[in-house]
Amino acid sequence: MANKDEFAETLTTYLKDKGFVYGPEPEIYGGIAGFYTYGPLGKRLKNNIEAVIRKNFNSLGFYEVEYPIISPAIVWKASGHLDGFNDPVVLTEDGKESYRADKLIEEITGMQASHFSDEELIETIKEKNIKAPNGKKLAPKIERRSLMMRTTIGANIEAYNRPETATTTYLPFKNYMNFFRDKLPFGVFQIGKAFRNEISPRQHLLRSREFTQAESQTILFPEMKQNWERFEKSKKDKLPFWSEESQKKEKEPVQMSLEDAMKHKVLKNKAFAWHLWLAHKMFREFGIPEERIRLRQHHSDEKAFYSDDTWDLEVHLKSYGWMEVCGISDRTNYDLGQHSKFSGQKLIARTLEGKEETPHVIEIAFGVDRPFFALLDLSYDVRKEDEQRTLLRLPAWLAPIQVGIYPLVKKDGLAEKAQELYELLEKKFLCIYDESGSIGRRYSRQDAAGTPFGITIDYDTMKDMTVTLRERDSTEQNRVKISELEKILEGKTNAGH
Ligand code: GLY
Repeated sequence: MANKDEFAETLTTYLKDKGFVYGPEPEIYGGIAGFYTYGPLGKRLKNNIEAVIRKNFNSLGFYEVEYPIISPAIVWKASGHLDGFNDPVVLTEDGKESYRADKLIEEITGMQASHFSDEELIETIKEKNIKAPNGKKLAPKIERRSLMMRTTIGANIEAYNRPETATTTYLPFKNYMNFFRDKLPFGVFQIGKAFRNEISPRQHLLRSREFTQAESQTILFPEMKQNWERFEKSKKDKLPFWSEESQKKEKEPVQMSLEDAMKHKVLKNKAFAWHLWLAHKMFREFGIPEERIRLRQHHSDEKAFYSDDTWDLEVHLKSYGWMEVCGISDRTNYDLGQHSKFSGQKLIARTLEGKEETPHVIEIAFGVDRPFFALLDLSYDVRKEDEQRTLLRLPAWLAPIQVGIYPLVKKDGLAEKAQELYELLEKKFLCIYDESGSIGRRYSRQDAAGTPFGITIDYDTMKDMTVTLRERDSTEQNRVKISELEKILEGKTNAGH
């Protein structure tokens, strides 16, 4: 592929063609940037990614909740989003177009600009002679634009679509305390929609105006952060840390165990270290290769207004380079403190000594859309020997279709036999039955959809009850007994998950 932009275009066209992502929507009315449809294969893949997230959180004792998407203005005043959640925007000199300044600089120069002050953004635009993508000159001024998407409840109640699930996860705090019988720590998470009124959404699903977040909130007392039992099991595992200090000294990220990261004060506490580890583990289970992941600490002047320490998990994409796909933050007692103040309710818990304290929060915040896009970006491949044949190397446990079942020909009872097998296997796996076109054509159709296994029923099947099992990535074909198929496929579709 010639360059990143070309690859991005090839990929997004491909995703649309194959039924993964349509849009921008409403497409038939011209479309508005930042809104997409997950098509038949895309929605399945998204669900499968969410299943990995749910499985991880559930197995670690987190509970999922679902809060309304829309909340009145008071909630967002308290959380700080109404006043502080905005983007730096630069306009063209004629005032007709506007762009997010930091992202424009990043796209054009490859620099990291998310921590730049407004003055630094303007300086960089001038110094590097950055122009709008349409070639127009930019005005020498940064404006702050709110990301909040406003709506109205009933006739006149000012309200907002949530810009993150996190804030809405904190609001039922008193009810959680009842459920968890007043004991800390506990973990809750939401997977649901959030909305950001991005000024100029680009980069496909990576920056949309409506997206799906998956955010866990661990509620704990500050003294629990240094005494986090789960840390012990993960402390020898190495992660690619890129601290603020290393970034400033222009050093590369370093692979370091959690234990060493604590010893060298790269990380402040064990609880936070474990949450970083958990986020990294999930991205590995999404099938993102280790060498494409790094953990980048936010600069002190880059952190969100609620955060004491934030690390982004970034993935190196073929289309858009390094991309933030997850943020792990120590939100301290900021949120519960703010909502206590604004609601007049005591959002507190009692320590073992009986002292009333406002608990702290450690958050793992990611969207589902970004890992989804990252996975497709990294899975997309072209067979070396045949430039025309694309394949998606999706992990078998996430693939939207796991097994293709094909009769070699329709006649002589082969189609019926294949149908029979389809009915058996569809109970356990996501299957497709396909009898149209040459067998090579059918294989390549499913390679392009990311289907990892193909089963062909031929004349020998009718004699000895064996079939050909073909693997997408290697194109290797093996003869296996029908009676052993389920077990073999189970092994292959569960591997690594
Ligand atoms: N909850 C953190 C975020 O939305 O970025």
